Amino acid sequence: MDQYIVFGNPIKQSKSPTIHTEFAKQTQQDISYQARLSELDEFEQNVKDFAQQGGKGCNVTVPFKERAFKMADKVSDRAKLAQAANTLTLLPDGTIEADTTDGAGLINDLIENDVPLKGKRILLIGAGGAARGVIQLLLEHLPESLTITNRTVSKAETLVERFAGLGNLNALAFDSLEQGYDLVINSTSASLSNELPPISETVFKPGGYAYDMVYSDKPTVFVEWALQNKVKLALDGLGMLVGQAAESFYVWRGVRPNLLPVVKLLRA
Ligand code: ATR
Repeated sequence: MDQYIVFGNPIKQSKSPTIHTEFAKQTQQDISYQARLSELDEFEQNVKDFAQQGGKGCNVTVPFKERAFKMADKVSDRAKLAQAANTLTLLPDGTIEADTTDGAGLINDLIENDVPLKGKRILLIGAGGAARGVIQLLLEHLPESLTITNRTVSKAETLVERFAGLGNLNALAFDSLEQGYDLVINSTSASLSNELPPISETVFKPGGYAYDMVYSDKPTVFVEWALQNKVKLALDGLGMLVGQAAESFYVWRGVRPNLLPVVKLLRA
């Protein structure tokens, strides 16, 4: 049986084992998938040990995505742009291949929920690893513009430089934002501690859309805030989580599982 692991710290809350086990059932693949805590200074060694024991691949979550990218022998184009990896493939000759599937996970979920992107004005809040992983794919869907805003505005400007040429991209400070973006995406880790990014509620457009990359059992504070400001649909990141897992599963197994039954199972 082929073995897979997700490494993170913390890792207890991870839903990845449930998701991949469901995908395996759906597609009749014979795999095992476990969550494993990695001490902060042991991540690279843990991956190498797992590869030596015959492990076929691992997912990588907070705070190891950049280190996963750096330790790989080969990297996909999308991982290179994101400078981060959430999916490592461990080849029998010891080679480690890195990829990132977070962007695909977000886009899959937006498409599944009929959120329009083409010709739309998108605001992305945050400029950390989570933001970097989705910029390229958002631009590929031809929005009118993608604005990146961040508490530390220089980080948003750095991202605009890195992705320049891929689309109409700009950086603005929290207090200089325009009004009424068609889609507002929160990629900050603020929701994890029930905080809202300190920006004006006028960024939301009545009838528009909002997306929080974080998820929890209850609606996140960002989702609630967006709904109070009359967006048509505000989604949390559960669908993105399942979507990125499906893309990782595809990278490893060459089969695309169905997302919706697994999202439903996790909500229940
Ligand atoms: P991740 O990989 O999850 O994106 P990260 O790289 O540490 O994690 O980035 C966290 C992001 O959340 C950053 O954009 C951070 O803003 P700064 O770059 O200014 O630090 C943002 N963030 C975290 N807590 C926040 C808060 N309370 N308000 C606004 N932004 C916050």
